[in-house]
Amino acid sequence: MMLAHEPRPEPRKVVKLRIATDALEIPVEVGTTLQEVCAANETSIIFGCRKACCGACIIRVIEGGENLSGLADSEQTVLEVLGADADRRLACQCTVLGDVTIEIAG
Ligand code: FES
Repeated sequence: MMLAHEPRPEPRKVVKLRIATDALEIPVEVGTTLQEVCAANETSIIFGCRKACCGACIIRVIEGGENLSGLADSEQTVLEVLGADADRRLACQCTVLGDVTIEIAG
């Protein structure tokens, strides 16, 4: 229960996630993971292990890569094993921090 003297939590900022493959533009709260977005929306992004092991969820960042959470060692390792270009990420490891446009990587 919130007491009268407690400050109300700030609403989280809403940004735009564009998934070019699906022609979707989805408003998402900063701090939302791509897994959460895909669970709540019909997208073509496919997940397997969901823990940076299988590479099934590889995406290409078209714009706004700086607005995704940073690359962890485990994700970097999988991307290197896959020989992925620098604009690729694993959707299962990404949190949206600002406007970003992605597509499924072939
Ligand atoms: S779902 Fe396996 S690496 Fe993302």
